[in-house]
Amino acid sequence: MNERLMRADYQHLVEEFTVIAEATENVDELMNIIVRHLQERMPHFNWVGFYMIEKSRPGEDPMLVLGPYVGAETPHKRIPLNQGICGAAVLTGQTVVVDDVNADPRYLACSLETKSEIVAPVFVRGEAVGELDIDSHTPSAFTDDDRKLVEHCAELVGNLLEKTQDG
Ligand code: SME
Repeated sequence: MNERLMRADYQHLVEEFTVIAEATENVDELMNIIVRHLQERMPHFNWVGFYMIEKSRPGEDPMLVLGPYVGAETPHKRIPLNQGICGAAVLTGQTVVVDDVNADPRYLACSLETKSEIVAPVFVRGEAVGELDIDSHTPSAFTDDDRKLVEHCAELVGNLLEKTQDG
């Protein structure tokens, strides 16, 4: 747990996001609220953004495309699924936590200040369709409580996508 945050703060945020998600039918709006809220409320969340998999045309490789985000501008607006920590999270369908990004050969640098990163996939009917990516300027910034919070936010977006998409 982050030393400045209590478990109750995390539980409170989880409940807050659940209430917000229940009140919206618009996925973009929900993603925008989540990135802004997380960055404001979590002192160690310095860059917060969604990447969603773009539907590829025949013969083209699918890409992760940057969606709503808060933080420094990143050069990585489109990421092939076989690249980066971002690619690893959607390909494996697992949350990836990297304590030291500079020691991870998969890492695609967004900012020189970034020291650690967490990426949680967004699932629709069991399939990874995107992810919530968070960078921290603090090394080893992300705890189990962070992971649960980030996975909860990713799940809320997946649930709303399921509810609002056809088929
Ligand atoms: N670091 C990510 C790229 C996205 S930026 O952090 C915003 C990666 O290695 O996939």
